[in-house]
Amino acid sequence: MRLFVRLSALAILLTGCGVWAEDGSAAWLRYAPVEAAKYEGVPSRIVVLGNSVVERAAGAELAKGLSAMLARPFTWSVQPFQFGAASTNAILLGSYRSLGDHTMDEASSSMPGTDRYSIRFSRQRGSHRVLIAGSSPQAELYGAFHLLEEIGADRVIPEHETQVASAAIRWTDEWDNLDGTIERGYAGPSFFFKDGHVLQDLTRASDYARLLSSVGINGCNVNNVNADLDLLSSEHLREYARIADAFRPWGVKLALSVDLTAPQIVGGLPSFDPLDPTVVAWWKQKVDEIYTLIPDFGGFTVKADSEGRLGPSKYGRSPADAANVLARALAPHGGVVLYRGFVYNNHLDWRDPKADRARAGVDNFVRFDGQFDSNVVIQIKEGPIDFQAREPVSPLFAALRQTNMAIELQTSQEYTGQQRHMIWLPSMWKWVLDTDLQADNRHTPVKQIVEGRSFPRPDGKSRLGGFISVTNAGAEANWLHHPMAMANLYGFGKLAWNPDEPLSSIIDTWTRLTWGNDPRVDQVIDALQLHSWQVYEGYTGPNGMGTLTNILGYHFGPGIESAERNGWGQWFRGEKDGIGMDRTAAGTGFAQQYPPSLAAKYDSIESCPENLLLFFHHVPYDHRLRSGKTLVQSIYDTHYLSARAAGEYVPQWMTLKGLVDDDRYQLVLRLFTFQAGHAIVWRDAIDDWFYWRSQIADVHGRVGNHSGRIEAETMATEGYQPVEVTPWETASGGKAVVCRLNSGCSLSAVITQPAGRYNVAVQYFDLWRGISNYQLLVNGKGVSRWAGDDTLPPAQFDPHLDGQTSTRFTVQDVWLKPGDTLMLKGTPDLRDDLNRSSKEAASPGAIEAHTLEQRDYRELAPVDYIQLGPNGAMTPQE
Ligand code: GCU
Repeated sequence: MRLFVRLSALAILLTGCGVWAEDGSAAWLRYAPVEAAKYEGVPSRIVVLGNSVVERAAGAELAKGLSAMLARPFTWSVQPFQFGAASTNAILLGSYRSLGDHTMDEASSSMPGTDRYSIRFSRQRGSHRVLIAGSSPQAELYGAFHLLEEIGADRVIPEHETQVASAAIRWTDEWDNLDGTIERGYAGPSFFFKDGHVLQDLTRASDYARLLSSVGINGCNVNNVNADLDLLSSEHLREYARIADAFRPWGVKLALSVDLTAPQIVGGLPSFDPLDPTVVAWWKQKVDEIYTLIPDFGGFTVKADSEGRLGPSKYGRSPADAANVLARALAPHGGVVLYRGFVYNNHLDWRDPKADRARAGVDNFVRFDGQFDSNVVIQIKEGPIDFQAREPVSPLFAALRQTNMAIELQTSQEYTGQQRHMIWLPSMWKWVLDTDLQADNRHTPVKQIVEGRSFPRPDGKSRLGGFISVTNAGAEANWLHHPMAMANLYGFGKLAWNPDEPLSSIIDTWTRLTWGNDPRVDQVIDALQLHSWQVYEGYTGPNGMGTLTNILGYHFGPGIESAERNGWGQWFRGEKDGIGMDRTAAGTGFAQQYPPSLAAKYDSIESCPENLLLFFHHVPYDHRLRSGKTLVQSIYDTHYLSARAAGEYVPQWMTLKGLVDDDRYQLVLRLFTFQAGHAIVWRDAIDDWFYWRSQIADVHGRVGNHSGRIEAETMATEGYQPVEVTPWETASGGKAVVCRLNSGCSLSAVITQPAGRYNVAVQYFDLWRGISNYQLLVNGKGVSRWAGDDTLPPAQFDPHLDGQTSTRFTVQDVWLKPGDTLMLKGTPDLRDDLNRSSKEAASPGAIEAHTLEQRDYRELAPVDYIQLGPNGAMTPQE
């Protein structure tokens, strides 16, 4: 005990300084010490009334968290409830019934399966009591986490508070593959699987379940929706049971994605036709097998007839036929089927003006409305395309009336900066959830639809519904790579629990728990996060045109025309006469898939919200927006403004030095610096492209004229060779230079700018597979050197010089005067086979126009341009 008290004192001392090393693994469950005097009345004795594994976890968690935060020892034990002295001066945790409240337990709830808890704090004649009552062991655990959260965020414990979950299904979908990779994973490999098996050590899986549970998430589907085909073999099932064991104390149910061909692939049957009785029997037997191993198994997620996955259409069967077979096998055990609404044709004819991928959800599902069993839920992506920076909400939410629905949101930032850019997605999700679809001219916001309240069952009860987050937690210590990205997972849990919780309260609690209660820290971080969606949208694809990322590659940097003229249907139709998909009645008719009042609003260019304008309309570049600006000018301005706003993150963050621990401070600083540079890559790519397409100049003269920019291909060189970059808009002037000499190459320019202190930004390309080295010199004297060693997300694809790999390094505070020679030296990263490399280096003309020859070099020290800017800004923005 003495040791404990001493350690706590040391912790307090360190908090006083505000700086101790952290790797981010604790996320928002750091339990950092708070002002203990404020919580003197909180009793140190924790009595847990139930003896389930979940309730025991809750007792232990309370003791752990309170001891750490309040710097005094808390003890917990399991005991039956007794009135009188034994129940005073204690924190009591139990079911409503065990605490003498029969009105609120599960049996009396009007929405069975919906968790609720209450916290009561009472003081009587010098004795204190905290009651945490729940409708289920999980709900008690949520109550325990909530009490810990209130104290961690330095809030007053309310005398009485009751919280009710919005919907029964609150899951994450991890897209982990059995080989240990993660589809759209940007934070290291899987912590569930490796080499075709479940990992032996599942400590991290259990830690993850604890994090999920702390924000009310009650299910986790651990494998990719593009499921491994042999996933359901008996050998594998026994292994998944160990994951379920790791999850169980935290009340998180294990779920699995399945491929509908399993009866054939795993079961050896001649077909997987859902109406074939042998197939039906196979699923039943397989599900029974699962439940003997995992009695609390959550259910299946199904991706079928989508992006190359086979499905019921192969046999002329419907999604309802397929989903119901699985659902009937699961029903006796209480399991559910999440059948994904993401079914579309990825071989659309782009020449057909009526073709429209956005229509697919409604076109493919509405005719089966009412045919799905009561434990089937259609899992619908928030928008009709695919997690863009902004889309309208999917009209399917209002088109299905007799079917259970859940919303699929994406915490993995696939199209939104891949956890290298900060974007707080709950801002977007709230906008989606609050969107009123006005079905039957009633108030029917998306949140109420997925809570199952808008279109109740014939017996008047709410439908089964819920919230799913596609998440990509990986083996990197801090789970999602960017410390700020964890606010997305946290926010998902909070909105899934209560979609009406204000964004400001969600982010403020997250910031306090993750970074501490210092008001200076909270103010800066809250403000940055709250604006980050609009900033990201602003320097990528505003006005509803789609993110404009490279959709054929890894969806990270700009790649504008990759969306056009192919079968994927993410077209925005950027033509000579204007831009945007005509989805009105005269066009594809997509707008008419919404209930009439919303359809009319979207259909008319006058009433269509401008942030969705190009999603619904094909608009001339000189169309005047409500601001009075032309569309194209507004696009230029928005990009300049937003890239500048992203550049501001760095100086804002720097005000927090010393107020947060140094490890996380440095990591965020690096990421914000990267984002500041990459936002400029986005800005220039999109503005240059619009200028080229519209032939309308920027009235402010910025686009295409970059003062202080020196193009690498115009500099004097030793050894560097120009290459064309594809797509052209992702490199300044469409060109870069590469070096194929073992000894390195150099670029130099004579300064003509007035004498002064400058920040010198070097825009170069950093490929995952190699580490080139760079050095900046003035008049032959080195001022900085660095390695191109970033690990940008696209590890698995062939790396190119383009908007995905373009990055910058800024050398601060360089004294320059006219006549000085600025030189950049680049040294490529060679493979071990130097002989071959040096032979080729002797005939350097061999390089391809836009791809790198990777057989002999890992990375050719590529450079795009050098930008001089005034000293002060973190990275020069002209
Ligand atoms: C996107 C994503 C894929 C994923 C798919 C899905 O298209 O890029 O990686 O498989 O969505 O949600 O099924």
